[in-house]
Amino acid sequence: MRRIIGIIVFIPFQTLFIPLAVIGAVITYYKQVHVSKKLGVSQTAIEILNGRWTMDRFGLRKDPATVKLFNVLPNTSGLGLWLALFPLYVLKQIVGKPVLYPIVKKNGNETLANLVTSRTGYFDEILDKSLKNSEQFVVMGAGFDTRCYGRMAKNGLTLFELDKKHTQNLKKNFLHKTNIETSHVHFVEVDFATQRWYDKLINAGYDGNKKTTFLWEGVTLYLSEKDIRKTLKEIKNNATSGSTLVTDFYAKQFVNGDMIPGKKISLEQLKITNEALGFGIEFEGNNSKDLEDLIESEDLKLGKTYYMGYKTKKGTWMAVSEILV
Ligand SMILES: C[S@@+](CC[C@H](N)C(=O)[O-])C[C@H]1O[C@@H](n2cnc3c(N)ncnc32)[C@H](O)[C@@H]1O
Repeated sequence: MRRIIGIIVFIPFQTLFIPLAVIGAVITYYKQVHVSKKLGVSQTAIEILNGRWTMDRFGLRKDPATVKLFNVLPNTSGLGLWLALFPLYVLKQIVGKPVLYPIVKKNGNETLANLVTSRTGYFDEILDKSLKNSEQFVVMGAGFDTRCYGRMAKNGLTLFELDKKHTQNLKKNFLHKTNIETSHVHFVEVDFATQRWYDKLINAGYDGNKKTTFLWEGVTLYLSEKDIRKTLKEIKNNATSGSTLVTDFYAKQFVNGDMIPGKKISLEQLKITNEALGFGIEFEGNNSKDLEDLIESEDLKLGKTYYMGYKTKKGTWMAVSEILV
């Protein structure tokens, strides 16, 4: 009944709200793409932060550190996102849970619209399991991820965040503007494409004898196969047995843009901050020989893997995987 009332209120309200929602979308786009470009930082990392902020505000995943960081960064806009999402928030309040967006779909039914909500949940689940046996946590291509500032800050893990210089500096500077404690995190500037990043990690205090969980979320799609293999090799050669890499891979048709609405504009938008898509995998339903071959050829083992979208018309468009060292 609440759902029916919600939809009856939502449709006319959303229709009347369209001009404000468009203004909200424009403000959000301008901040994410053009302000990020001016600052020389990742726009895609802001897109994920926006998604996690939305999850918090709609009650899907509490993340106070994300909200604090979002509120101070110059390339986010609370006004923009509220204008874009307010009718959906009203619908959520009436129904008692989010409807249409943001939602978490059952495994296999995920669509691009719930990329962040679904992916974040799978990562959290694999990480929770893996971190029980780890002494170190390395967030690779950390962007504006705030996992190191939540409950992980209190559980005695040694924490590292790796990213390119400008994105990392912006995050550090603005974390300082909030009251979030950062002294327990070792920040390491890296470029997976051009540097021996593992040497830098060791110089920052990483201990190769300690079991480690590596998180590499939303990064492989921006790299080449050569750089991905180089990174997998570094982990295999330097991390102790029993360590885990938690990462995601995207379908070839996804990185070519064939699965993305407004393909041309979307791919051009990514080039504005030099984040063109690169590496993709062939999936076959809830399976991938391509993925198994990649992981096994680097002498690693594929663990729990969530194939997202395998029951939909488009088929699998990404996978979140546990990789065992
Ligand atoms: C989509 S964002 C994901 C951020 C974060 N992992 C998350 O899930 O919130 C991609 C991140 O990868 C980083 N990245 C991309 N290519 C990189 C490279 N070659 N070396 C280091 N970081 C890179 C970007 O700077 C950006 O922060």
